[in-house]
Formats: sequence, structure tokens, C-alpha cells
Amino acid sequence: MAEKPDIKFMFEPRSVAVIGASSKQEKIGYKVLRNIVGGGFQGRIYPINPGGGMILDKVAFKSVDEIDDEIDLGIVSIPAKYTFDAVKECADKGVKYLAIITSGFSEVGKIKEEQEIVDYCAERGTRVIGPNIIGVYTSAVSLNATFGPRDVNTGNVAIITQSGALGIAMMGKTKVMNIGLSALVSCGNKADVDEAEMLEYLIDDDSTRAIMMYIEGVKNGDRLVPVLKRATRKKPVVVIKSGSSKRGAVAAASHTGSLAGSDAVFSDIMAQCGVIRAESIDEALRWCKYLASSSEPCGKNAVIITNGGGMGVLATDACEKYNVQLYDDLDVLKKAFAMSVPEFGSTKNPVDITGQATLDDYENALEAAAARDDIHSIICLGCETATMDAERLLVSLDKFNRKHGKVKPAVFSFFGGAMIENAISNLMTRGVPIFYDVYEAVGALGVLYEFSRTLHREPDDDNVTAESLGVDVPAIEEIIKKVRADNRLFLLSYESAALMSAAGIRMPQNAIAHNSEEAVRAAEQIGYPVVMKVVSKDIIHKSDAGGVALDLLNTKEVEDAYDAIMYNCKKYKSDALIEGVEIAEQVKPGTETIIGARIDHSFGPTVMFGLGGIYVEVMKDVAFRAFPLGRKEALAMISEIKSYPLLLGVRGEKRKDINLLVDAILKVGAILYSIKDISDIEINPLIAYDEGDGAIALDARILLKPQQ
Ligand code: ACO
Repeated sequence: MAEKPDIKFMFEPRSVAVIGASSKQEKIGYKVLRNIVGGGFQGRIYPINPGGGMILDKVAFKSVDEIDDEIDLGIVSIPAKYTFDAVKECADKGVKYLAIITSGFSEVGKIKEEQEIVDYCAERGTRVIGPNIIGVYTSAVSLNATFGPRDVNTGNVAIITQSGALGIAMMGKTKVMNIGLSALVSCGNKADVDEAEMLEYLIDDDSTRAIMMYIEGVKNGDRLVPVLKRATRKKPVVVIKSGSSKRGAVAAASHTGSLAGSDAVFSDIMAQCGVIRAESIDEALRWCKYLASSSEPCGKNAVIITNGGGMGVLATDACEKYNVQLYDDLDVLKKAFAMSVPEFGSTKNPVDITGQATLDDYENALEAAAARDDIHSIICLGCETATMDAERLLVSLDKFNRKHGKVKPAVFSFFGGAMIENAISNLMTRGVPIFYDVYEAVGALGVLYEFSRTLHREPDDDNVTAESLGVDVPAIEEIIKKVRADNRLFLLSYESAALMSAAGIRMPQNAIAHNSEEAVRAAEQIGYPVVMKVVSKDIIHKSDAGGVALDLLNTKEVEDAYDAIMYNCKKYKSDALIEGVEIAEQVKPGTETIIGARIDHSFGPTVMFGLGGIYVEVMKDVAFRAFPLGRKEALAMISEIKSYPLLLGVRGEKRKDINLLVDAILKVGAILYSIKDISDIEINPLIAYDEGDGAIALDARILLKPQQ
């Protein structure tokens, strides 16, 4: 394997070759070259075409071999059947990056053909972008090597898109929305270079202030997660994801698996990384535009200035939705806005300057808000009235934005007829953060606050290992070895109990009985009441088979239960091999939780926590995280489920042992992470008791990966 070239050669190439450059205007090879030349690329341009000659006033070479120069980036736009030969020439020549526009590879099942290209290139140190992409746009060297629109606004928003078609559309849309791009790259089939590597470059790219990612599916989530975490410590990342596939969930055998609808996992892991998730492309673009141009608020106090009560109430609702905190020191508000508000208005927040407000009144109120250090952000709203003059509105808001926009975050939304709509679109082109809808305005401010909170999030120590958590890893490995020797992919209940004991997770005391006398002896040793469960690798759903008895209070009940379990199980499955009956301590009630860990097909090791018990799949009150994670994030995970108040204690109950739940989450995650044979661990229920009293696992299901 040759050394990989620096990613900067993809984003800042000094020379570009277009393989498949054409003088026929309808061809993609023509459009790409036209955009490169027309976009004012600062480096050297080499069209490649077997016919040679001149294309767009550039000398065309018959092959890359003829070029007496180093090529940093090659754009390939020839049919799939010729692509491998052309790629070979490029890789042999030492081209650093190859952006393969061509379709017709893994996306149509031609996985082998795609891999052949990647393998050949990897041997020679050439990286492959795509295939099945639109090319590369990067403002660093004024390169538009795409077949999208020629005319692109340069600026501070970078876009990584998996969909090429949407990428092209976004090039046009950003122009209309007056959004400037620092880069727009599509990753297509992600045969080699993936979004994580592109993101790595953008983290340190000074011209990029906000990053938008359009994702259809994550291939190497365990690589993407740490990069996203690093990125959001520096600049906002807004993600839009389509295609919430349930395939992985259906395939998984355990409860954890079926709860892990990939979209829920994706959402929770994005939040873990500090990524902002948008619901539509339009929303994502609006947010990125605002995030790229706004400064961080110095504090949480927002004020609403409005000439209409209704708009003010709508904005108040939106503030709750987007977690924007309204300043509520009534004395300060009165002092600040008394001069701008008539007697029948209100200086409370929303500050209502009333329907008679003129633009002078708006200017006064805005200046009053800007002047105060304890007001940290402004939401300025307006309904069209006869006292509003469009020209003045333009001038006032533009002037205010120029004067204060860089230091005091503000958003504007005005509502009315053609005059207002024209003013809004005019102000947008001047870079004023104005929106057609109140919710859009408050939403933008909300994500600015969200990003600010991410920036100041205390770092979590995710250096946890099974050993550091006191897990006896060799003991677990020994258990797994025996299960493998028995050719099973699941652990029997006594093996799961032994694994839990090695993990330091308490389970009820238990013993295996092979006849009714042994059952009674065990019950007396453990102490009544006890529960009894059949032990058989042929019976997985014990309750369905009548293999479980609860609340057994004395010798007679244990004897009867033993006979009943044997009878029921034989009837349920006459050829089942029954190894005995487990006698276990019956535990006292507490709050039932569920903890799981599994290998997610996109993100690798993930953990789940939620409200447990038999209704877990109905309630779906669970949270997911990618592993590794530290105590802070495990606690965040616990506190984000809807039933969290139950753990804090309701109606005079005591707080539950949340610390122990954090330990248990970290332990199951760390076991899955370090013992590669295990694919799923699920403890349900894990009964949480009052603080200091710990928790007890009633059932643990552990599955192994099939052996290669
Ligand atoms: N080296 C250099 N040039 C070559 C080579 C070679 N080895 N082989 C052929 N060429 C030349 C051809 O002679 C032709 O030039 P000419 O017009 O002067 O004759 C040029 O390269 C292009 O070759 P064509 O055979 O004409 O191929 P065409 O342009 O029709 O199609 C393309 C190539 C665009 C790559 C097509 O195969 C394809 O994959 N289209 C889909 C692209 C796409 O959508 N990508 C995904 C983007 S995402 C989205 O959804 C939008």
C-alpha cells in the first residue's frame, strides 16, 4: 500500500486533468471543463481526449502520460466500461486524487468493478472520490470541477453531499438564497474517500464557517463519529438525513435490535456529536447561512421586539420549541424600552411597540436592545401597517445589521403583502438575517444557541475500558470459549449470569436443580420467596413454554412448580434437552430499566438505555449512543428519556441509583467493545433501587457473532 496523499490536494489542487474532456457542448466532459476554465481556476488545466486538438482554447492531451507535470486532481468523465483503463493510467502517472463522475458501479451492483479501481489506486497512492459524483467545487483555488451551474457564490458554507443530483441543485439554490460556498463535494458511492476525511479538511479550513452534510447512509460511523465530535468543537455542522432504513433493526434478534430503528440511532448519535439535525434541505441551508455569518451570543438573554401581539406570542412559542431563553428581568426591560414603547404597549418580553410603531420606534427599540450588555440576542418582528415604509425598512434593518450584526446576534421576520415580501428578499441579498416566517427566524437563533452550547460543553472522558471499570475480561473470555465449543451463538442463563457476575452487575442468587429435592434445598438456602425457570438451550422463550414460576413461598410450592415446569416443557417441545431448573431469589420491585449494547451496522458498537420491562417495545422510551462514551454522556443519555422523572423519584419516592446505571451502561458498552465475539448484550429488566441501594439484573441475553 503506498502512502496516502494529503487531503489538501483534493481541496487545493495545483493542477487538474479532465479525462473525457469534450468539445461537444452537451457532454458532461465539456461542461466540467467549461466550469473549470470559466470559474477562473488558479492552477494548471489539462483536458484529456483521445482525439487531441484544442478544447475550449486549451491543448488537449491524448493521454495523461503525455503531460509533463504532476497532477493533483483528475476528473473522470468517460463511460464505466473504459474507466478502469483510464484510472490505471492516472494511478501509474501518480495522480493524487481521482474524482470519478461516472455512474454504473456499486450503485448498480458492480461492486467488484468498483473495488478493482480502489485496490489498483491504493497500491499506487491514488485516492478515489466517488464514483457516481458531480465532481468537486472548492473556492480555495476557485475550482468548479463539476457539471453543475457555472456561477457559484463564494463564501463560508461547505457542503458534503452523498447525492450528486441534490448537490447540483444546491449549487443553484445557494445562489438564489445568497449563500456563499467555500466547498461543495459529493461523495457518491464512497468507495474510498468518505465524508469523514472530507470533514477532516473542512475542520481546519479557515474559509469554512459552517458545514452542511446531506447523508443517505453511514458506512463507517465509527470513523465518522470522532471526526464529527472534533468538528463541532470548532464550527457548526448541520446534517440532513434521508432514508431511515429499518433493515438493520429487522435483522437483529434482540429487543435492542428491534428498537434500534436506524433513524433513532442516527438522531441520538448526531446529538452526541453536537451535530444539528435539520428536517429539510431548505431549513439546513437557512441555518448554515445564519450560522456562517453570525457571532456567538455572549449569553442566553433574548428579547422579542414586535409591533403585533400575535407575532410576539408566536415567537414566544417558537422560543420554547427551539430552546431560546427570553430575558425576564422586568425592571431592566422597563428601563431599556420605556422610551420606545407607548403607554398602551408593553415593555415585558415580548416588547410590544404596538401597531402604531414607526420605523423610528423600531430603530429606537433596536438601539436600546443593542446598547445593553445584559441583552444578548434580539428577535425583531413586524406586521405590515400603514406606518411602515418599505424604503425605510430596508435602510433601517440594513443599517442596524451593519452596525451591530457582528457583535449582537439578531434575527428579523416581517409579515405582510408584496411590499414586505420584496423588502425581505432585498434585505436577504444584503446579508440581513431576515426570514419569511417567525419560526424560521427563531429556529435560526435557536441553532446558534445550540452550537454555542456545544462549543462550551465540558469534554467527556471517554477513555473507559472494561478493565478500568473492574470487569473481569479473562473470565468472560473463558465463558465465551465454552459457548463457542458448544457451537452456540447465545449464552444460557447461567452463563449470562456468570458473565454479569464477571462484569460486577448483580443478578439474583441462583442455583440449578436436577430434581425436586435439590430444588427445595436450593430454595431454602437462597430464602423464600423464590422464582424457578427451566434451563434448556432448546427453549428460548421460557414463559411461552410454561417454564417459569414466580412467587414460590414454601417447600410445597417449589415441589409443585418443579413438576409443573417439567411437564409443561416436555409438552411444549417433546425433544427438548432439559438441563435442569434454575431456582433464584425473587427480587423486590423497583424501577425497571433496560440496558443494551450491540454492533450497529452503520456506527459499530452502540449502547442503549431506557425504560425497561415488558412494554419496552411499545413505549420505545430509549436513548442510543455510539461507544466509546464517558460518564457525562451516559448520564445525558439517561436524563433524555421521557421517563427520567421516574428515576429522579416522583410522589415522595427517592431518587434511584443513577450512578450505578451509568456504570452499567459503560460496562456493557465496554464489554461489547473489547470482546469482539459478542454482538449483543441486553439486560431487561435492570431494576433500579433507591440511591445507594444499587440495581439488580433480572435477565440478560447475550448473543455472539457468527464465526467467520
Ligand atoms: N480518456 C480520455 N477521453 C476519453 C477516453 C479516455 N480513456 N475514452 C473516451 N474518451 C472521450 C470520448 O471520446 C468523449 O469525447 P468526444 O466527445 O470528443 O468523443 C468523451 O471522453 C466522453 O466519452 P463518451 O463516450 O462520449 O461518454 P459520455 O460523455 O456520453 O458519458 C459519462 C460519460 C457522463 C461519465 C457517463 O458514462 C455517465 O456515467 N453519466 C452519468 C453521470 C452521473 O450522473 N454521475 C453521477 C452524478 S450524481 C447525479 O445523480 C447527478
